[in-house]
Amino acid sequence: MKTGFLGNNASFMLDLVACALAVVVPLLVYSLYLVKVRRNYTGHRNLQVLLGVVLLVTVGMFEVDMRLQQGISGILAKRPVPLTAGQRLFFDRILAVHLVFAISTVFLWATTLSLALRRMPAPPGPCPHSPLHKWLGWIAAIDITLTAITGLMVYYFGFIV
Ligand code: HEM
Repeated sequence: MKTGFLGNNASFMLDLVACALAVVVPLLVYSLYLVKVRRNYTGHRNLQVLLGVVLLVTVGMFEVDMRLQQGISGILAKRPVPLTAGQRLFFDRILAVHLVFAISTVFLWATTLSLALRRMPAPPGPCPHSPLHKWLGWIAAIDITLTAITGLMVYYFGFIV
């Protein structure tokens, strides 16, 4: 767990999260294509539930890993060339912005998912909950996209540059 598999001196879990972030957005776009263009509501539901489970498991394991490795500073300490003070300040700022999106995404995602599962019919389809679902769904989709972009920036500026 101490060493990653992408060869950048990050941790295994950080590498896994970076991969998860890179696949989440294409999968989300496909899920929105399914619902908007193909009107495949069941496919959309299944993909969204799968994305929710993947996110929950990845974030949970990542949190444990952070504790085990003395936080982000512990992981950054494994860099062959340490960040300069200026680079570290820039990194901390991106990390702070990323955390705002990441934390709000967890709540928005859980709300969108649980309301849809409780209020929409099975098999799913347009219903009285649709207007609120579409509103929440688009905000959650934008939030997770910003989480992925800023998360990959954190990875890039912390472990690749
Ligand atoms: C966090 C998870 C989810 C997100 C982010 C999400 C996102 C969205 C978005 C953005 C739309 C609107 C597409 C448009 O503009 O036409 C939509 C539509 C829809 N979603 Fe989800 N969705 C999620 C989970 C679910 C679940 C679990 C179900 C089923 C239980 C579901 C069923 C539907 C249905 C039936 C529509 C079409 C509504 C209509 O056209 O009246 N979604 N979803």
